[in-house]
Amino acid sequence: MEQRDGQERLELASLREDYSRAGLEEGDLAPDPFAMFDRWMREALGAGLYEPNAMVVATVDPDGQPAARMVLLKGVSPDGFVFFTNTGSRKGAELAANPRCGLLFPWHPLERQVRVDGMAEPLPEEAVAAYFASRPRASRLGAWASHQSSVVRGRDELVAAYAAAESRFPDEVPVPDEWGGYLVRPEAVEFWQGRPGRMHDRLVYRRTDHGWRTERLAP
Ligand SMILES: Cc1cc2nc3c(=O)[nH]c(=O)nc-3n(C[C@H](O)[C@H](O)[C@H](O)COP(=O)(O)O)c2cc1C
Repeated sequence: MEQRDGQERLELASLREDYSRAGLEEGDLAPDPFAMFDRWMREALGAGLYEPNAMVVATVDPDGQPAARMVLLKGVSPDGFVFFTNTGSRKGAELAANPRCGLLFPWHPLERQVRVDGMAEPLPEEAVAAYFASRPRASRLGAWASHQSSVVRGRDELVAAYAAAESRFPDEVPVPDEWGGYLVRPEAVEFWQGRPGRMHDRLVYRRTDHGWRTERLAP
């Protein structure tokens, strides 16, 4: 069927795949979600997924309006999941008021997703400085040029701010005050594996006072 602009209408409702690559059984689970995440991340890397460390971070504003955006996972440990950003950004402001957030790893080519519910806490200055120093010079200058999430008049303004940062910092580029990172401590981590007939496997680790409890959710 044609749309008003003469283009074929996209038949999105009829796009569907049956997921049959793998299953996820209780017996497959590692003792904790970090070991399990490590295993799946290795598999995502091994399968050649493009940026498998790209994750969606969902935050909520004081009116209850959720917002989601991609960021890059830069570390994971038994404490949680780490990412870096501008703390003056929309996400930074929302996390300052309400540290509850969601993470999502959309590993679609593997018919997998990992969902995290947790609380974000700002990383200590030393961790932020160490990571900032490891970034390419262009990214460090870009951090100075961009007051992330603020309105700009046009691209020219950003280009001028970048050039100003370049001449201000000919050698070392210090960490901007508004730049930082977060550790997301998980309360729940779900491992989702697509199965035929929409009978997907969903196994969730939930934090308890005595370690991790796991349960299966209906798909
Ligand atoms: C694949 C991908 C990775 C990204 N990684 C980051 C990141 O690590 N840190 C970051 O601040 N923004 C990153 N961004 C940009 C964010 O999606 C977003 O535009 C920016 O952080 C502003 O979000 P906010 O206005 O909701 O705070 C990334 C975008 C994409 C598509």
